[in-house]
Order: sequence, then C-alpha cells, then structure tokens
Amino acid sequence: MSLSEIRRILISDSLAPACASILRSQGGIEVTESPGLSPEQLLSVIKDYDGLIVRSATKVGADVLQAGSRLKVVGRAGTGVDNVDVEAATKNGVIVMNTPTGNSISAAELTCGLILSLSRQIPQAAASMKEGRWDRKKFMGSELHGKTLGVLGLGRIGKEVAVRMQAFQMKTIGYDPVIPPEVTAEFGVQQFALEEIWEQCDYITVHTPLLPSTTGLINDEAFSRCKRGVRVINCARGGIIDEEALLRALESGQCGGAGLDVFTEEPPRDKALVNHPLVISLPHLGASTNEAQNRCGEEIALQIVDLVKGKALIGAVNAPALSRAFSPKTKPWIQLGEALGVLLRALLPKLSGDIQLTTSGEALRDAGSYLCSAVTVGLLRGTEERLNLVNATFFARNLGIKVTSLHCSENGEEVLALSCGGLQLLGGLSGSSPCLLQIGSSTFHSPVSLHGTLLLWEGQAPLPKLIEVLAESGGHLRVFHVSEGHSVAGVSSPLSDLSPLGPCTQLAF
Ligand code: NAD
Ligand code: MLT
Repeated sequence: MSLSEIRRILISDSLAPACASILRSQGGIEVTESPGLSPEQLLSVIKDYDGLIVRSATKVGADVLQAGSRLKVVGRAGTGVDNVDVEAATKNGVIVMNTPTGNSISAAELTCGLILSLSRQIPQAAASMKEGRWDRKKFMGSELHGKTLGVLGLGRIGKEVAVRMQAFQMKTIGYDPVIPPEVTAEFGVQQFALEEIWEQCDYITVHTPLLPSTTGLINDEAFSRCKRGVRVINCARGGIIDEEALLRALESGQCGGAGLDVFTEEPPRDKALVNHPLVISLPHLGASTNEAQNRCGEEIALQIVDLVKGKALIGAVNAPALSRAFSPKTKPWIQLGEALGVLLRALLPKLSGDIQLTTSGEALRDAGSYLCSAVTVGLLRGTEERLNLVNATFFARNLGIKVTSLHCSENGEEVLALSCGGLQLLGGLSGSSPCLLQIGSSTFHSPVSLHGTLLLWEGQAPLPKLIEVLAESGGHLRVFHVSEGHSVAGVSSPLSDLSPLGPCTQLAF
C-alpha cells in the first residue's frame, strides 16, 4: 500500500476554504467537504476516501480507522490530536499529522486576554453594564505589574504567553520537564520544581498536552499550597486543572478566579463552573481566529500535497521514523530495504533473534530508522492486509521480530547490509534501481536487479531445464547472474511449477 496514493479526501469539520482549494489545485486531489457528518454517516462513507481532514469536532476512533480501508492519512488542522485514536491509526497503517504551530499565537493571545480579564473582571463588568448597572465598587481590580505568573508547560504556547505577559512587567516563572532551564531563561522564564512554583504565583496558566501525568496537574493539594486568591487559566485541555478541585477552591476563596477555554466535557453539561461568578468561560475559542484557521487549513493541505508528491512528511505524530523517508531520493533505498527483507525471509527457514541492518555511505547516515521499517515491511510481506511503513514495526514486535540499524562511516560506498542467523545480504543501487550485490560470501559479478520475478538457486542453476520450462510456459529469460555460490534468473512472468528446476526460490519484487 503506497502511503502517497491519495486521490480522494474528506473534510468532515468546518475548515478555511484555502484547505480544499490547495488540495485541489496543487495536489490534484478530489475533495469532499461535509462538515457536521454524524458518526454513523462518517462510518458509512469513510471507505471511499484515502484521507480525512478534521478539526476537533470529528471523533476519529478505531471504528472509523478500521472502516476506512483506503485511509492513508488523517490530517488534524490544529494542535491536539486527542480526537484521533492515534494508536488505532498506527495499527491500521494510517499517518496522523497535525499543524502544531498554526494556532499557537491565537491560543497565546487568548490566554493573555483571560489573564487581563481576570485581573479587572472585564467580562463581568461589561455584562453588568448591559444589565443597566453602573457598579464601580464591585469591580475593583488589581494590577498585573509586579505580580508573578507561573507557566506550566513551556512549549510553543507557554513561551508566547510568558513573553507577552512580561510586557506588563509580570515576573514569569515556570516548569517543564523537557525544555531545559537554560532555554527558558533565554525568554525570561526561570524554572522551578513544581513544589516550589505554587507558593510563588499570583496567576498560574497551563500549556501542556492532556496526558496521564498532566491530568489534575492543578488539584486540591496544589491549590492548598498556592497563595490565597491565586487565579488560574486553562486554554490547553480540560482536565489539566481538576474541575472539582477548582470549584472547591473558588468556593473557599483559595482561588480568586479562573479563565477557562476548555472543559473535560465539551460543551460542559455540568454548569457549576460556567455559572460561577469568578469564572470567565469560553467555548474553546483558542484557535478561533481567521488567521489561525487560515494557517492551519493551509498548512494541513500543503503537508498532504507534499506527501502525495512524495516530497516530504511533515507534522506526522505517529510516524517519527518516517519524517526523513519522503523525498524522491529516499524512494529507491526504501524499495531496496523492502526487497532485501523479502529475500532474507525467503532464504532463512526461520527468522530469529535480532536482524541487523548496516547502512554505509554519507547519504544513508540518518536513514537507519526508516530503512528498518522498510526491511520489516519486506520481512512481513503477505502477512497483513494493511502492512506499510507506519505499522510494520508494530506487527513485527508482536511476532518478536526486531530490526536494528547501525551506520558504518568507514565505508564510503552507499550500500545496505542485512544480516540474520549468520546470513548476510548486501544490496545497493544501480542508477535508481535496487540491486543485490552479495549473498553470504558469494558476490555477483554484475548487480542483480531486484525487479520483477527472480528465481534463485544455491549453486548452479539448471540452465537448459530452465529454458525448456520457460519455452513451455511461454515466458522468457530476462537476465541471468552467477556468483561463486548462487545463481539468479530474472524471468518475464511467474512460473507456476518450479519442481523441474530443483530446489529453487521464486520471488516477486
Ligand atoms: P507544545 O507541545 O509546544 O508544549 C507543551 C509543553 O508541555 C512541552 O514543552 C512539554 O514538555 C510540556 N509538558 C509535558 N508534560 C508536562 C508536565 N507534566 N508539566 C509541565 N509541562 C509539561 O504544545 P503547545 O502547542 O504549546 O500546546 C499546548 C496545549 O495547548 C496543548 O494541550 C494543545 O492541545 C492546546 N491548544 C489549545 C488550543 C485552544 O484552542 N484552546 C489551541 C492550540 C493548542
Ligand atoms: C487545537 O488543539 O489546535 C485546538 O484545541 C484548537 C481547535 O482545533 O479548535
């Protein structure tokens, strides 16, 4: 299954028009725009599409991925992929890609808006004016100047929030287990251990993904360590601030206000937080700007066009090993890796232990990860219907097969060596065609093109018999190679009966 054969795409959420128009004009892709499909409708139509593009409304569960037998890519025009079952996508060989940067500025600006709104109760005061009141005492606020903002999660959005709030002379501190303190210090955020963050902050904003480790990151215990009256903001994902703990903290006065763009259930059926006078709540508007929607729509379309054209794989969240695999110059190496995998499988009675792939030559220095996937596709060929570079490693793991790679910088020549159980195959390219150079210690005098149907003998091929068999079947001999230990014949079409040819392996590439 070729991952770049994408002819029909379904857009099932409301996206900027640029998305469909780029897919059509630059990718030559047929696009159907059906925002608002019911889950049942999606399940019944998905089998007709090679790609699906969503925002956050469409839930792409295992059932959709299973029913989408042609699906090769799910594009998420936005950051979080929590509405896509990424594990099921990987098992089904479907690439999941997102546009992680397209809406960062919009989400950061909205967060800053909520911080400002909390400090002066702007929405509450505006609402009171519409109710005909003129209440100057009730809405006494506090300055941001000199206050401390804690930023939990210092990735794209967390950084942009911190930098913007520094313009209000807020002190910005934070915590991120991945981004080093030296890096955040460069944009003015001093990092502390979480236990040291709580007591310092007047405002805390969360910008992490929703993970088991971030669910309830701000909980009863965290609130109890905070300054009385701390204000919290969640423009990331519902559940990072424990909603029940937040309600308790608001009611006790431990929390002085909350700005919430996201909820554990969207829209929230339980209105306790939404209706609380100290809560400013929004219907998940972080990315809802014309700029962010245009950017995300355009970016996802361009990423899919690149994939279709075999130019690049950008933004894939479940196929990191493949990010370097999509460029015209990698294609023949992927074909070679697959072909060597097919050959190794045919030559070894049993695959056991680790299979070692050694790459040589400067151009293959960083190719190990995707070539391991390519070899695995070859090894498992015929075993799984939707086998491809995305899911090969998953299936191999279940069978106890593991391909590892090593780069040999001493040998300047670009070649792949694949070895297992004492047998080694050596392959290279002739022009851009994958070729076999060596089986074990026997070297072919000229490279054997790994293309079409090949017959392989250990030792001498019974050539006269082969010619007789071919004449009877109407086929002909394309090429014939001998090495010290093996013979290979390329024939025009597969042979149905190999018995007259003695112990011989037939392979299709
Ligand atoms: P990012 O991946 O750039 O940054 C997230 C950071 O969180 C990473 O640096 C990571 O190391 C850090 N992190 C992970 N676990 C952590 C933990 N336990 N404690 C502290 N930090 C931790 O992501 P981003 O693009 O900045 O997005 C942040 C969040 O905002 C995501 O949840 C995303 O889905 C959400 N988002 C919401 C909207 C919206 O409409 N409200 C829009 C865009 C993004
Ligand atoms: C995102 O993760 O990108 C957002 O939550 C925004 C959205 O898609 O609406």
